[in-house]
Amino acid sequence: MNSIPRPVLDPKGLRPETRLVHAGIMRSQFGENSEALFLTQSFVYDTAEACEARFAGDEAGFIYSRFSNPTVAMFESRMCAVEGAEAARATATGMAAVTSSLLCQVKAGDHVVSAKALFGSCRYVIEELLPRLGVTSTLIEGTDLKKWKDAVRPETKVFFLESPTNPTLEIIDIAAVAKIAKDAGVRLIVDNVFATPLLQSPLELGADIVVYSATKHIDGQGRCLGGVILSSEKFIADHVHTFLRQTGPALSPFNAWVMLKGIETLPLRVEKMQQNAIKLADFIGGQRQIKKILYPFRNDHPQVKLAKKQMRGGGTLLSFEVPYGKAGAFRFANALRLIRISNNLGDAKSLLTHPATTTHQRFTPEVRAGMGIGDGLLRLSVGLEHPDDLAEDLMRGLKAL
Ligand SMILES: Cc1ncc(COP(=O)(O)O)c(C=O)c1O
Repeated sequence: MNSIPRPVLDPKGLRPETRLVHAGIMRSQFGENSEALFLTQSFVYDTAEACEARFAGDEAGFIYSRFSNPTVAMFESRMCAVEGAEAARATATGMAAVTSSLLCQVKAGDHVVSAKALFGSCRYVIEELLPRLGVTSTLIEGTDLKKWKDAVRPETKVFFLESPTNPTLEIIDIAAVAKIAKDAGVRLIVDNVFATPLLQSPLELGADIVVYSATKHIDGQGRCLGGVILSSEKFIADHVHTFLRQTGPALSPFNAWVMLKGIETLPLRVEKMQQNAIKLADFIGGQRQIKKILYPFRNDHPQVKLAKKQMRGGGTLLSFEVPYGKAGAFRFANALRLIRISNNLGDAKSLLTHPATTTHQRFTPEVRAGMGIGDGLLRLSVGLEHPDDLAEDLMRGLKAL
């Protein structure tokens, strides 16, 4: 693995808010305050010997932006500092992070176990793509710990889960699954998108690898796609670095720069969006037409105790079920004026999603039902607007039912 220059600040002892503003900065000879955007594909060397040393890893420095770039490296260091990870690699999208974190460590004949309540594309990778490459997979009820144990085979290499799940906000006991993984000699990957690094720390809970879609809260303002894989120095060096270097799902330096600026305000945004989400969950949960409300820190959430044990907050998303199935959900969505219909999440703007016809459309109704996704289920990603404006908008949806 090529070594890159060290950032100027050691984040040890600093709190997450401070790390998100300062960690990872590498200054150029100009002494800029704000992180520089290095829009360059390649790098030049004073001599052929220096070039050889750089390629051999004997001299710290950058080689080619498919696998190392100063702006991307600053973003990776900052993500490490906030996640408490030894090393990270950024990718072009969250799906590139998920796919690469799996493909970099499995080969034909291996076996992967995953919770079945997953974002649609993650489920495609595990259920359809891996088997095409000779890697078998088993999908289980992730909340049932016995199912993880029972699914292990001698050839099992990886466990995969997301918690809270998209869009049903189910909570999986990460520490317990990590223990089963460790006992079985299996690595655990956690997709931590819904919780963000501020509200849940899967590595501290025993996971081996954490993946993010940086497209969501990390950018947080709906601009750029991105992803990150975080793990130990050894796993990144032995598996991730070479896989990304040779296959090329790199994050663009421009997107890394947008993300770097975006995460400076991550704590402020997540805190305010979460306060709004709590208020709106209470508002919508108190309406007689609403059949079900799902928010991890509400007392009526079936796993509220576990959520409070492993998360530092309930997050910025909630889901609820309206009556009259798809027709009711569509009437509700179409009546909104402020909250926009979209399949994205973690944005400053509040966004409403109908999972059955968008993120989880490709599944049969039976499979969706098995994942807890009914035709009347709506997912709300709560933004930074005034909560009263949002509640008034939701009222429009309720009246249209
Ligand atoms: C839980 C989860 N994982 C992964 C992804 C994929 O991220 P991206 O859209 O950046 O590829 C998403 C996107 O919605 C997601 O919600």
